[in-house]
Amino acid sequence: MLDFSDFDTRGYRTVDVATGYGQWVTTYEDTVEDVMDLALLDELTVPPWREVRRTADLGCGTGRTGAWLRRRGVTGTLDGVDLTPGMLRKARAKGVHDRLLEGDVRATELESGAYDLVISSLIDEHLPDLRPFYQEAWRLAAPGAHCVVVAFHPHFIMASGMPTHFTDASGEHVAISTHVHLLSDHVSAGLGAGWRLAEMREGVIDDRWLERKPKWEKYRHHPISAALVWHREGD
Ligand SMILES: C[S@@+](CC[C@H](N)C(=O)[O-])C[C@H]1O[C@@H](n2cnc3c(N)ncnc32)[C@H](O)[C@@H]1O
Repeated sequence: MLDFSDFDTRGYRTVDVATGYGQWVTTYEDTVEDVMDLALLDELTVPPWREVRRTADLGCGTGRTGAWLRRRGVTGTLDGVDLTPGMLRKARAKGVHDRLLEGDVRATELESGAYDLVISSLIDEHLPDLRPFYQEAWRLAAPGAHCVVVAFHPHFIMASGMPTHFTDASGEHVAISTHVHLLSDHVSAGLGAGWRLAEMREGVIDDRWLERKPKWEKYRHHPISAALVWHREGD
């Protein structure tokens, strides 16, 4: 496994996930870029969103992913899990989930075999090892289910030397514990858990990004995020 410290060019102070998102929560939705994840979700041809009856939203955060699902026509039951209480409070206020549980995505209290969609957006870099995540998604999945993962692209972490980070109330840039996963780590962990890869998209730094971050011209056309859609064959 690769160690982020080999690529770190920023040297920001690093905090754990719950501490980091507990502080970032006040500005999170103003700073996260929809083009990173929601634009990729918009491009997917599977799963058939409108047919989804029960969704597990792992690492649901403030409910951004859940709100996108509702806009996309997912009308069934939507359960979210996250380990940061402050993020869950925001999600509760948003009101798009049916249930919100505080817990770890690698060992949730959700029911086995009950979900025809498991989705997880922008959390993979916080997991040291992807295998427990894909195994837990498999445990939750009903026959015929899809699992959608949006990841922070390893190329961008390496090329920019930048961890997931935020700016705290004092103006300090603070990193949240970041791990580098090659795309083959995702493929190995997903296949190893039983999933079949059904679709994959990569998002690159394009004009939409550069409008927001002109200083990133040097990264034009570098991949920054990836969406993987996994399928569990019906029994
Ligand atoms: C970048 S936010 C993404 C939130 C939401 N999915 C979105 O796209 O806006 C990452 C979230 O993952 C959560 N998280 C990270 N590691 C986790 C874990 N092992 N178990 C549960 N939640 C986790 C954090 O608390 C945070 O709310």
